[in-house]
Amino acid sequence: MSPNLAAAIQQTPDILIVPDKRLRLRARPVLASDRDRIGNIVSGMFAAMYRAPGIGLAAPQIGISLRMFVMDLGPDNAREPHVLVNPEIVAVSQDLATREEGCLSLPGQYAEVTRPARITTVYEDESGTKRRIEADGLLAACIQHEIDHLDGILFIDHLSALKRNILLRKLAKERRENRGT
Ligand code: NI
Repeated sequence: MSPNLAAAIQQTPDILIVPDKRLRLRARPVLASDRDRIGNIVSGMFAAMYRAPGIGLAAPQIGISLRMFVMDLGPDNAREPHVLVNPEIVAVSQDLATREEGCLSLPGQYAEVTRPARITTVYEDESGTKRRIEADGLLAACIQHEIDHLDGILFIDHLSALKRNILLRKLAKERRENRGT
């Protein structure tokens, strides 16, 4: 990442919207040499996520192709911010769970997505300490959704082509209409 980009994200960064091609890239791992920039990137990500507002945001969604995301599933009055760097799902349950998902890169669009119900994820926290999290419910869905972003995958990719196209056309139409006002 260029020094200019690092400076730019001290302001709240814009969230990329589909069909921005940067959302489709596979992000690279965060390296030790990235560490001094992580705090700055994380601040920008939280600012963008809370402004939206949303419960999760991956670095590629603000145009930074690094394997990290932020999330906060806490209630409105009690923030529970989490940073997951280089996350990797190491175990998934056989049983599946279906829940409605949305995405800040597809504003206003929602669909039911089926994923493994429980997962085990290993990651590094902001300071580089290795951690492990067992998740089910909303947390499991959120982590899988955000890790998908790091591989250029969007929740609509889990839908049938028919449903995906309906959603993409609806998004494009709404974006056109908003631009007109
Ligand atoms: Ni998303």
